[in-house]
Amino acid sequence: MSQTATPARGIQLQTAVPGPRSQALMARRQAAVPRGVGSATPIAMARGEGAMVEDVDGNWYVDLAGGIGVMNVGYGNPAVLEAAQHQAALFTHSCFQVLSHEPYVEVCEALNRLTPGSHAKKTLLLNSGAEAVENAVKIARAATGRHAVIAFEHGFHGRTLLGMTLTSKVAYKQGFGPFAPEVYRAPYPRTKEDVSALVTMFKTHVDPQSVACMIIEPVLGEGGFTPAPEGFFEALTQLCKDHGILLVADEIQTGIGRTGKAFACEHFNLVPDLITSAKSLAGGFPLAAVTGRAEIMDAAAPGGLGSTFGGNAVACAAALATLGQLDELNARADEIGRKVRARFNALNSPVVQEVRGLGAMIGVVFARDGVPATAEMAALHKYAYEHGVITVTAGTHANVLRTLMPLVITDAQLDQALDVLVAGINAVFK
Ligand SMILES: Cc1ncc(COP(=O)(O)O)c(C=O)c1O
Repeated sequence: MSQTATPARGIQLQTAVPGPRSQALMARRQAAVPRGVGSATPIAMARGEGAMVEDVDGNWYVDLAGGIGVMNVGYGNPAVLEAAQHQAALFTHSCFQVLSHEPYVEVCEALNRLTPGSHAKKTLLLNSGAEAVENAVKIARAATGRHAVIAFEHGFHGRTLLGMTLTSKVAYKQGFGPFAPEVYRAPYPRTKEDVSALVTMFKTHVDPQSVACMIIEPVLGEGGFTPAPEGFFEALTQLCKDHGILLVADEIQTGIGRTGKAFACEHFNLVPDLITSAKSLAGGFPLAAVTGRAEIMDAAAPGGLGSTFGGNAVACAAALATLGQLDELNARADEIGRKVRARFNALNSPVVQEVRGLGAMIGVVFARDGVPATAEMAALHKYAYEHGVITVTAGTHANVLRTLMPLVITDAQLDQALDVLVAGINAVFK
């Protein structure tokens, strides 16, 4: 995988965005799909190449969203396609609980090796991030015999009942209660001293002896691309050890090269008991995983874990091809992150409150006089797609521009996208 493998194609708008074919599909979508499934753009995709996507009207965009962090290896990644096609010709599905297959076992071996910590590990494969989170909690409960779970403010852990309960943002939960019981929420740390909030919680909210696990994103994803503060995880790991609580790192958005490491935990020297991954794990195929200490992973009795499609053979083959490119992904993530960071910092703009993140997981926070610029962020997002750049936003106030571009993006494509965003900032924040 190299930059030359990515097409040189750049932004090309054939029709006003959205074009007539996109509009027609959006009308059919509106009639056929519930409105609860959000829609960040009015654009219908026809195909993708590297970091570029073409819509059904022939418009080409630089994609800084990557299917919300799924396409780190890029669209049409040759190694991923070849592996998936080869596996699909052999068999697409076996149900691993019925007939075992090598791609599943090989992905587990790879994740056991690549996740932080040199201890013996085991991995369970599933379909989606939310399913991985659910299973991490099930496993932690089985291993500890306890039931409470601590999650953090601004965290996002999925849309299933437990995932949604663990998720902080109220907008994702409105009308969907009652929520799962025994979930307690701590503030996301700003300094390492904020571990004291958990010590207080153990007096005011929950007996630590009833807590099975804490679940935390090392860098908040949906919550705004905020990395945990230095030194916090040392304190948190000690606190968990003191009370026999398992630490779960949710690396569904941060993993597989996004931050310049296989897993963001490595930036913090964090060795969690359990780690969840999904999104970019299988180059666009649905695959998720829970990896953890072997004795913890074995706590659930036979039959207690599993899933019909989990660890689908084609998705596993795609994952192996993806993981084989991790070194290049990590290196490119660092280069991309430096470029993005430098460009936004150089603006020296009063509306850019902060540029933060790790590797290619950069969040640009917009505010006016300290007030989150939510409406302006929405306008910038619209300006961007109307000028050939697909973006996604983040943060509790939706005022953070987040970069989740395929890591095969070329310098020329990235420069084009950044030019559009800078022009958009000038247009929106007049
Ligand atoms: C950190 C984190 N956890 C869990 C999830 C849920 O993953 P999925 O949408 O695959 O269920 C997401 C999705 O954005 C995520 O970012």
